[in-house]
Formats: sequence, C-alpha cells, structure tokens
Amino acid sequence: MLSKTVEQALNQQVELEAYSANLYLAMASWADKEGFAGASEFLYEQYAEENTHMIKIFQYINDREGHAIVAAIEQPPADYKSIQEIFEKTLVHEKLISKKINELVGVCMKENDFTTVNFLQWYVNEQIEEESTARSILDKLNLLEGDASKMYLFDRDIASLRIL
Ligand code: FEO
Repeated sequence: MLSKTVEQALNQQVELEAYSANLYLAMASWADKEGFAGASEFLYEQYAEENTHMIKIFQYINDREGHAIVAAIEQPPADYKSIQEIFEKTLVHEKLISKKINELVGVCMKENDFTTVNFLQWYVNEQIEEESTARSILDKLNLLEGDASKMYLFDRDIASLRIL
C-alpha cells in the first residue's frame, strides 16, 4: 500500500507525463502544418510514448491500493519559430522531467517505499535515453545551420528514429 505522500507525488508525475504527451502532440501538429512530415511523424510517436509513461504510473498507483487521478492539464504552446526551437524546448523539458523523476525517487526513499523506488528505476534509465536523443537531434540541427537541402534530408531521416 502506498503512503499518502508517495501517492500524491506519483499523481503529480502522472500529470507531468500527460503534459509531456500533450506538449509533443502540439509540437507534432505545428511540424505537420509547416510541412515537416518526418519531424511530425517522430513527434506523434513521442506523444504515444509519453502516454505509455503516464498510464504505467497511473495503473501502478491503483495496483498499490492508491487512487490515480486524472488532472486538468495545462495547455502547451501551440506555435514555434522553427524545428530547432522545438528540439531546444524538448531538451529543456526532458531535463526537467529527469529532475522530477529523481525528486520522486527521493520522496519514495524517505518514505521507505523501496517497491516504488524499484518501479521508478525504469524511468530513471528512460530519462538518460530521452535527454541523449534530444541532445543528438539538436547537435545535428546545429550542424545544418538552416541549409534547406540538408534540412530536407534531416526531416526524411528523423522519421526513422524511434528512441526518445
Ligand atoms: Fe516521459 Fe519524455 O518523459
């Protein structure tokens, strides 16, 4: 059974993962509308993945006799200046999520809830990958320096990335 403190902290993470999903969905929509077919496919995929992150914690809360809550989710930004800005924001956001996951693990350790610490280990590892993917996409974009023909190749290739 979860302590109230752990239950609340997990519900906050559910809300954050749901926000992450909506953030990627908003980014996918912008990229789609601007004609970046590959980037939008990649971002739609991230949306689906964030939903799995959310539902895993959601069901875990109920499995441990807590009550998973569907919260109101803040609206993510709809407009972006460029694909570059999208991946800059992605990296900043994933760093925030890593920090929140680490804080959540800290709360569980204080509460002596090692079952949840163990459950969250998957998220700790996942965040290493998510930050690294966002960073490597951003590095590639920085190399292109706005070159339109290289941007076309970038957009074509990113659609095959499935690792965030
Ligand atoms: Fe679920 Fe991208 O963190």
